[in-house]
Amino acid sequence: MVERGTFIAFEGGEGTGKSTQARLLVAALAERGFDVVATREPGGTPGAEAIRTLLLAPPGDGWYPRAEALLFAAARSDHVDRLILPALERGAWVISDRFVDSSRAYQGGAGGLGDETIVALHQLGSGGVRPDCTVLVDVDAGTVSARLAQRDGGDSDAIGGRDAAYHAQVAASFRALAQGDPGAFRVVDGNGTPEEVHSRVLQALGHMLEPAA
Ligand code: TYD
Repeated sequence: MVERGTFIAFEGGEGTGKSTQARLLVAALAERGFDVVATREPGGTPGAEAIRTLLLAPPGDGWYPRAEALLFAAARSDHVDRLILPALERGAWVISDRFVDSSRAYQGGAGGLGDETIVALHQLGSGGVRPDCTVLVDVDAGTVSARLAQRDGGDSDAIGGRDAAYHAQVAASFRALAQGDPGAFRVVDGNGTPEEVHSRVLQALGHMLEPAA
């Protein structure tokens, strides 16, 4: 019987550098010869990518909070059933740029729906599947605004473009989630160069990498 693979999600607010860190981890695992699948949310399958477009460039006046949360949960359901679970079943590593903890921080925390609602939606949509480890990339608020000004040049999507209070609430929610469940999260200091942060990520995941290496 093939041993189940390992599922790692990168989380954090906008401009924390988590996408770069997800890519660097994928490259490091591939270099060690592992079967590794790089994916992202919202997205990862054709259906979920179509929902991504609806979420980030919404038609009309945009979504109310409950519809937004349902769309994220629907995209995740397709992603979990068609990509994540089959990859884990064949023994692969799955590295996802965002997963359910984004819904908990954005829709549940900043969006005001509450954690219980998001957890219930996730149970319904995806059987409550959790990463083996969620890496929360945590960066100073000042550094984030400087990076975002450079990256988006004031041209962000429907959720990234929400006001500073919303994003401060997202960051606070992520920290609270990590503090409340230290077994599920590793918090990594995202200040510094991508290489510096990458070595912190490897260190944080050392307990999972070693037996396989
Ligand atoms: P993306 O361009 O991937 O942003 P980033 O580079 O910051 O990850 O867009 C994803 C946006 O969707 C981002 O603003 C976070 C938001 N989001 C949620 O609000 N809830 C979720 O469950 C997920 C997965 C993402």
